[in-house]
Amino acid sequence: MENIVSLKNLVVEFEDGERILKNISLDIKDKEFVTFLGPSGCGKTTTLRIIGGFLEPTSGDVYFDGKRINGVPPHKRNVNTVFQRYALFPHLNVYENIAFGLRIKKLSDKEIVRRVGEMLELVNLRGFEKRSVNRLSGGQQQRVAIARALVNHPKVLLLDEPLGALDLKLRKEMQTELRKIQQALELTFVYVTHDQEEALTMSDTVVVMNNGIIQQIGSPINIYNEPVNAFVADFIGESNIINGCMPEDCVVEFTGKRFKCVDKGFNPNETVDVVIRPEDVKVVPADKAKLTGIVESVVFKGVHYEIIVDGVDHKWIIHSTKAEPVGAMIGMDFDPFDIHIMKKTEE
Ligand SMILES: Nc1ncnc2c1ncn2[C@@H]1O[C@H](COP(=O)(O)OP(=O)(O)OP(=O)(O)O)[C@@H](O)[C@H]1O
Ligand SMILES: [Mg+2]
Repeated sequence: MENIVSLKNLVVEFEDGERILKNISLDIKDKEFVTFLGPSGCGKTTTLRIIGGFLEPTSGDVYFDGKRINGVPPHKRNVNTVFQRYALFPHLNVYENIAFGLRIKKLSDKEIVRRVGEMLELVNLRGFEKRSVNRLSGGQQQRVAIARALVNHPKVLLLDEPLGALDLKLRKEMQTELRKIQQALELTFVYVTHDQEEALTMSDTVVVMNNGIIQQIGSPINIYNEPVNAFVADFIGESNIINGCMPEDCVVEFTGKRFKCVDKGFNPNETVDVVIRPEDVKVVPADKAKLTGIVESVVFKGVHYEIIVDGVDHKWIIHSTKAEPVGAMIGMDFDPFDIHIMKKTEE
């Protein structure tokens, strides 16, 4: 697959000299669903604005279809945006909101009727043509915003937290619909969210960002199973993150005990972050376990119990289908391949 968008060494500094993006490089493939995921303020919208042409980077290059497009204004890029705060035109009805971009382009009435009809079909809003956008639900307004961006037939659609304002059930429905639209039209979607579950369900590729730096690029499964550092592990789902060290290959020491693991290639006694997922901690009888702790709380979460265990040097979070009595002493165990060893990151 060809790269449709390439970002090379993007740096953004605002007037106060603060660096918002610190050397962002990324290749986005044609027809790919790529998601920027990271906490508030990490630079997701800023990166999207650069791709859309609404902001020029302080340094670095943007390529579209292999051509450098720095300085090309937004309307001359084959890209459309659904903004974080999508603003529909309040005085126009659903039909005219979607038709707006086509009228600007001076397309024939016949062509406009055809294309708007196609979009109404796509976002499931047939019959709503004459409705004022002020009398639509949040989800319907969102679909108008998407139709309005897609009607111009962009090759790349940028979506900045498009589902942020919707309730959980509608969000889930829209996630599925968006993914279907992207696949049916064979478009490239560059999607922004700070919701890790949303990123993992929808994307081909997830780009995890923090502090203006890309932390990891990978498939959802790759990012979840093989986080490259403690930040990613913590941001993608809950984790136990413990200080440890590597006395030798495939042996890790933490909370005063040694465990077999599968990682190697660290310096002797290098200090590391040890990451263990809550669902990978097994509860075993205390007298048979290397690690023990006192159950501090048990909360039913629908699919599993979340158990907090006060252990030596670390408060453990465990997901288990079985509850344990609060105050009980339990043992904990894990398989070597469920212990993830990560280099300490500077910063
Ligand atoms: N015009 C500006 N001048 C100065 N600083 C700015 C400007 N625009 C954004 N910033 C800063 O840049 C940083 C990144 O902002 P950005 O909007 O890209 O974050 P984000 O990842 O989209 O966050 P959110 O999830 O809250 O939308 C923030 O610290 C923000 O305050
Ligand atoms: Mg933002």
